[in-house]
Amino acid sequence: MPGFGNHFATEAVPGALPVGQNSPQRVPFGLYAELISGTAFTAPRHENRRTWMYRLRPTASHGAFVPYGRKTLLRSGPFDEVPPPPNRLRWDPLPLPAAPTDFVDGLITYGGNGDVGAGVGLAIHLYAANRSMEGRVFFSADGELLIVPQEGRLRLETELGVLEVEPQQIALMPRGLRFRVQLPEGRATGYVCENYGALFRLPELGPIGSNGLANPRDFETPAAWFEDRDAACEVIQKFQGRLWTTSLPHSPLDVVAWHGNLAPCRYDLRRFNTLNTVSFDHPDPSIFTVLTAPSESPGVANCDFVIFPPRWMVAEHSFRPPWFHRNVMNEFMGLIHGAYDAKAGGFLPGGASLHNQMSGHGPDRASYDKAINAELAPHKIDHTLAFMFESRSVIRPTRWALETELLQSDYDACWGDFEKARLQP
Ligand SMILES: [Fe+2]
Repeated sequence: MPGFGNHFATEAVPGALPVGQNSPQRVPFGLYAELISGTAFTAPRHENRRTWMYRLRPTASHGAFVPYGRKTLLRSGPFDEVPPPPNRLRWDPLPLPAAPTDFVDGLITYGGNGDVGAGVGLAIHLYAANRSMEGRVFFSADGELLIVPQEGRLRLETELGVLEVEPQQIALMPRGLRFRVQLPEGRATGYVCENYGALFRLPELGPIGSNGLANPRDFETPAAWFEDRDAACEVIQKFQGRLWTTSLPHSPLDVVAWHGNLAPCRYDLRRFNTLNTVSFDHPDPSIFTVLTAPSESPGVANCDFVIFPPRWMVAEHSFRPPWFHRNVMNEFMGLIHGAYDAKAGGFLPGGASLHNQMSGHGPDRASYDKAINAELAPHKIDHTLAFMFESRSVIRPTRWALETELLQSDYDACWGDFEKARLQP
């Protein structure tokens, strides 16, 4: 049964799941009972997330991890490679690599905030991969991973089952959960938010009521699935910002049954019940929040995941695109496909933009002209899907993000030619 944060019980072999208790003296078939906790044991019940796994071998059976030898562009908080510039930044799409590159080696960090050691903040990565992960699995001990495919399907083989995600869907991978990324189409690009802080959850609905935005039942969780495979498998983990590796003589994706409420899930963004004004003006983009990872300050997110999906625009006597604004919050945007209504050009599918604290931004000149001259009949924004990772703390770019040729040198120019308002008629 789908649902976000619900309790699930699933077994790939009938009779494998203990009934009535978590850790019986003898687990059926001699399986090993193992707990994975995504929150502290003592977290309030409504926030408590954990799952019991029943597996062929305990995760504890492994040798020492050693530093990962390959070059990586993954980075973690604290993000202090370079001073964060106050400038508006925009990047062209990340191209596919020339050499064979899987999901792990294809991750490139654009920026982030907070401190992975303190469990505060986030990192934003893009990935471009052209081969499946063969003979290895990955997990992040540093945070949960919100994966946003932009091109190419992903088959995520995890300890708790298999998720297939395609562009316009997202996957949420719990901290510490081992998984392998297969590329059914042989290539894939997309975005990842690595959340160091409190777990993503559905936003409160307040006066909206009990329906709307992302509905809990649309979050799909996999059934138990396992590999009984005695072949060498590399396990790569991200721990305190660095990659470490060890090798097992078998697949660690060997969970035969599990129950609990910490699980990977998939959500189809086309199922988002989009709400908007039916009178006038431009509501804050928080109306489009899919998931939120709160901070300790009420209403202030460590990360909001917000989408700009197809929707009807009906506001009367209003400037319909996003207006000019400066925010205390920090906005990293990506585009899955189509065009974004506040930019006439330059913001491309697979590209990204960053507008940090108090940097002025908004529609470019062409979008502005179009909006103030538009006939305000009901109009459907269609064939587009943009999104935003919004955070309370400045998203500090990595050195790579500031030095890459993908960074557009002329981004400021899109706001360069607004003439002075005329006070005389
Ligand atoms: Fe903005």
